[in-house]
Amino acid sequence: MQTHRWLRTPDGTAPRISYGADYNPEQWPREVWDEDVRLMKEAGVDVVSVAIFSWARLQPAPDEWDFAWLDEVIDLMHANGIGVDLATATASPPPWLTMRHPEVLPVTAEGSTLSQGARQHWRPTSPVFREYALTLVEKLAERYGSHPGVVAWHVNNELGCHNAYDFSDDAARAFRAWLLARYETVDALNHAWGTAFWSQRYGSFDEVLPPRLAASFPNPTQQLDFARFSSDALRGHLIAEREILNRVTPDIPVTTNFMITGDTKFADYADWAREIDFVSNDHYVTQDRDELAFSAALTSGVARHRPWFLMEHSTSAVNWQPVNRPKRSGELFRDSLTHVAHGADAVCFFQWRQAEAGAEKYHSSMVPHGGVDTRVFRDVVELGRILQSLGDVVGADRDPADVAILFDWESWWGSELDSHPTELLRYRAEAQAWWNALLDAGVRADVVPADAELAGYRVVIAPVLYSVPAALRKRLEAYATSGGHLVTTYFSGTVDENDHVWLGGYPGAFRDLLGIRVEEFRPLYAGETVALSNGTTGSLWSEPIDIVADDVEVLATYDHDELGPAVTRRPVGSGSAAYVSTRLGSAGVGALLPALLEPAGVASELPEALRGEIEVTSRRGAAGRIRFLINRTDAPVELTGIEGEWLHGGETLPPRGVAVVKG
Ligand code: GLA
Repeated sequence: MQTHRWLRTPDGTAPRISYGADYNPEQWPREVWDEDVRLMKEAGVDVVSVAIFSWARLQPAPDEWDFAWLDEVIDLMHANGIGVDLATATASPPPWLTMRHPEVLPVTAEGSTLSQGARQHWRPTSPVFREYALTLVEKLAERYGSHPGVVAWHVNNELGCHNAYDFSDDAARAFRAWLLARYETVDALNHAWGTAFWSQRYGSFDEVLPPRLAASFPNPTQQLDFARFSSDALRGHLIAEREILNRVTPDIPVTTNFMITGDTKFADYADWAREIDFVSNDHYVTQDRDELAFSAALTSGVARHRPWFLMEHSTSAVNWQPVNRPKRSGELFRDSLTHVAHGADAVCFFQWRQAEAGAEKYHSSMVPHGGVDTRVFRDVVELGRILQSLGDVVGADRDPADVAILFDWESWWGSELDSHPTELLRYRAEAQAWWNALLDAGVRADVVPADAELAGYRVVIAPVLYSVPAALRKRLEAYATSGGHLVTTYFSGTVDENDHVWLGGYPGAFRDLLGIRVEEFRPLYAGETVALSNGTTGSLWSEPIDIVADDVEVLATYDHDELGPAVTRRPVGSGSAAYVSTRLGSAGVGALLPALLEPAGVASELPEALRGEIEVTSRRGAAGRIRFLINRTDAPVELTGIEGEWLHGGETLPPRGVAVVKG
């Protein structure tokens, strides 16, 4: 575990929220760089990520290096007070490398080899790629390690964004080594994978392959282990680069940009976060603003609530959705400040200047195609001004909430495997439904990894906590019996770390704690719903629950003759354990929340009139408590009843506006 180290800053500079972008000057003639610097200063930019996709420029041929242009860029930035978050440039291998060594190209589950010509076309486990990449990293570290303008290292870029799952022979070799380290004997692997089923027994590790395209459902534990291995393989690359950087340039902190966003699930970022000095994240809004807030809270959770770096988001439209609309007025500010509200101490965009050529020319930037006389550039300058006014926020941790939502990559991977009771389940959607309901109620929540310290939370919600090893089961039991209020849902506590079912009835790992027993899952068809006695509606899933302990309270029942209790709660020790056996969605969860939160002493942090309209977050640092009040609506909102020193915004919040209040 690395300790938290933030960007190097020039001595004597006042703390500020860093502001900037990916900067790709090699795509532009030299004279444009001077205009870039002038405009960066106008916008208040103080940090840029450089050389992310510059490998082919830095090493035009195997024995040829060209650093002169990068020397000039870093000098230019430094001379103008702009720090450089220097990329290791390993994200996109140059054509000469892949033509000479096609064996570094990734292979799909179907056996197709991916070609050069886009980016990230490399196998995370290729020894050949690793050698070339590390040579480049070492050269950069040696050349720039003593440059005062380099404020951080940026390993690769969005590791795994296009090459997370590689089924090549290199991957097969590395997978076997990973399995040997995990299981030690082939008997242990056979047991874990349940290979007595379908005649899959292995005689040695050499017979094992990644889960390549097969005739039917591949072995589920093999798939789960391959997901774990693939995350570890990318993390291994991160560590390999970081070790060189730490050895050559021990004073420069190292980060890499995560993709905590939407359905991106290939990396266990809670685990990766231990390998870097500060967490960075990239986030792009689709059509769901609350997903941004959820992702930002989860980023804070993996950063253990220390400040983190928003490495990329967009000023306006992206170019990779089916239809790419610009942001509406106010959204650039609201999106950026929502990340700050959840702990970001740096706000950066992809990218500085909108490209005139290449695959991302229709992706918005800080300096658009239209130049500086544009809405986007004016907003960019205004955002720079706002961020500079929020110096009090810098260094403040995200203020711990009373409620935590557990977010567990193992359960994400496990619950969405094939050959399950339903293929309609989406792990993240269930977690976000709880998040949205809490947002609507004005109750702040943390989103934390499964190994987080839980003792300080009054309520812990564990939606679809599918994979529950014995140790986690014990921790959650101890949490509830010693005064915590645990809430879990359908398809939780179902299997152990080997994806073996906890026998004796569902939800196996939590059956005794909850005092209930389920014999059969009863998933619902797409579009099918079932009414509950408390006026809410279940979808996706239902269960016939038997109550097996006298002290179980039924909070809602199904209005259905084959089904009985739907939501239960049981007092355990000095706490309680509740169970929700269907997908209620955010409205249904919202209706249930008072019954779950009031006994735990959790109250809304917003006056009633503001609930639903405003998201409230809080950070706490040297300047005390700083709250962010974010208008989730498209109408003005009066912030009546909010007191403190207004650092930004005022009592009338415009549509999509944000106020920042100290005290
Ligand atoms: C990712 C990448 C960037 C760019 C953006 C576009 O985040 O890291 O290089 O492609 O997407 O949204």
